[in-house]
Amino acid sequence: MSTIYIDEASGSDATGSGSQEAPYASLGFAVFTHGPTTSYQVRKDATATYDEPTQSSLKKAKKTAEGMEKKRKKQEELAAKETKEKGDEKEKRDKLLEDSKKIVLVEDESLPKAIKSKIDQLEYFREKRVRVFGWIHRLRQQKDIIFLVVRDGTGYLQVVLSGKVSQTYAALTLTLESSVELIGTLQTVPEGKTAPGGHELIVDYWQVLGAAPGADDAFTNRLNEKSDPSILADLRHLVIRGETASSVLRLRAHLLTAFRKALTSHSLIEVTPPCMVQTQVEGGATLFKFDYYGQPAFLTQSSQLYLETCLPSLGDVFCVQESFRAENSHTRRHLSEYTHLEAELAFITFEDLMNHIEAIICETVDQLLSNPASAALVQTLNPSFVAPSRPFVRMSYPGAIQWLNEHGIKRPEEDAEGNPVKGEDGQIVMVEHKLGDDIAEAAERQMTDIINKPVFLFGFPKELKAFYMKRMPPREGMDQEGMVYTESCDLLMPNVGEIVGGSMRIADQEELLAAYKHEGIDPEPYYWFTDQRKYGTCEHGGYGLGVERFLAWLANRFTVRECTLYPRWPGRATP
Ligand code: 4AD
Repeated sequence: MSTIYIDEASGSDATGSGSQEAPYASLGFAVFTHGPTTSYQVRKDATATYDEPTQSSLKKAKKTAEGMEKKRKKQEELAAKETKEKGDEKEKRDKLLEDSKKIVLVEDESLPKAIKSKIDQLEYFREKRVRVFGWIHRLRQQKDIIFLVVRDGTGYLQVVLSGKVSQTYAALTLTLESSVELIGTLQTVPEGKTAPGGHELIVDYWQVLGAAPGADDAFTNRLNEKSDPSILADLRHLVIRGETASSVLRLRAHLLTAFRKALTSHSLIEVTPPCMVQTQVEGGATLFKFDYYGQPAFLTQSSQLYLETCLPSLGDVFCVQESFRAENSHTRRHLSEYTHLEAELAFITFEDLMNHIEAIICETVDQLLSNPASAALVQTLNPSFVAPSRPFVRMSYPGAIQWLNEHGIKRPEEDAEGNPVKGEDGQIVMVEHKLGDDIAEAAERQMTDIINKPVFLFGFPKELKAFYMKRMPPREGMDQEGMVYTESCDLLMPNVGEIVGGSMRIADQEELLAAYKHEGIDPEPYYWFTDQRKYGTCEHGGYGLGVERFLAWLANRFTVRECTLYPRWPGRATP
């Protein structure tokens, strides 16, 4: 190019080429690119004409160009140095790796025999030689020393590899989540330092049992805190290796143990009813149906009916059984399969039932907080947790409707099909609650958030509840407007809403037959449930508690999906 053009207003050093169509923006850059002897034409902007640069501006531009050239050279040198250093480093690392292959560890037979132990039992073996198996949970490599945190499900252990044991090929290529066998001396950590359990393992012999991949397929590349929720769901089997997820599952185990202990101390015994059934409990709309040797069958919604049949046989009973609900609910408190803790008690009154539920919950929480292991989990997951105090607030259904209206909590107006009605502005029309309304999840949540402690709502209208519920005898404050109420109760918890649903059951055979009829249920398949009323009926009642919801409340989890091993919700049944 013979002449180079510079337009100081519309040219560009970044994208220009110096042609008249694509001029540069600065003379300095033009000189840096094309040298001082080229011919230049400069203009201020499109309104001016191109002219040769003045001597002084050319001089200034040469200076700028020199500066730019210096900078370029420096960058070039730096890049060359970096490449060399990287090359050197790689060479060094390759050599180190090559050399490391020659280091073979052999267990020193003259040392005392190592005692095999789980991590949570190690405190009994301080200063002794122990043998531990686990997975690499954390890994920090320093010059000649490798610090590990190893996990075996019972706890975490700090591990030090130094000297020869840190120089083997396995040590230099060790990856997170590899499984290992470690042998060494368990030392109390020096004062001022902390480690899980207060000790660390100084390894003298170790080996990798199952190496986890590094590079692209490394654990941390497949999964991290920022991973998309659907990826986290697909990789739940890896998520549960994490500290939070495993703590929730561990607390869940403590919770089930504590519930069982509380229930058995009240003389209830555990039974295990079937999951495959041919009757419904909570309405046909939420049944999962399947083909059972050519007959229609369902996955159970609740074991209640079976528990009722146990009363004359075993006395008061409970079960911890999966329940299944085919509801298209994508809320944070609904699962398609959940663990249902249900209990049934004979010869009780409605008051006895509520007192019992309250006692079981409080005794379970007390147990969890008095056991150091579970108390620590609650503390980590939910530091501000406070055990609920008794008695729980009790609010009748009409009282709750009044409370909602007093607090301005409205519900969406619904048309005849139950769809929300929209106003002229396109917004859903909100109206006051009235007797007979179902208290929807949103209203319930607002209510528990305001009250901020457990609340028993009791005495729901018959039309809102399942067929088996006993009518409430006339009760002060509840005989309004000809409504029929039931001896039913829901226990609501802050943050989660309903965690328990319970009721007294119809004890009279004729009344039950009428209830089937009213509900359009064919009594024939329920013959065994009806017989319960025929052969020595009794006043009885029970409840079902959603274990995941209880855990979400206890461990302050956002959703019940975090509170079960492999959650199922609409569209998700893997892994
Ligand atoms: O209120 P529900 O439907 O009551 C029954 O099934 C009764 N037959 C129980 C009984 O009296 N034995 O369910 C009881 C509890 C609810 O309070 C809730 O905690 C939980 O089960 N639950 C669910 N948890 C997670 N996902 C779902 N889809 C749930 N549906 C109910």
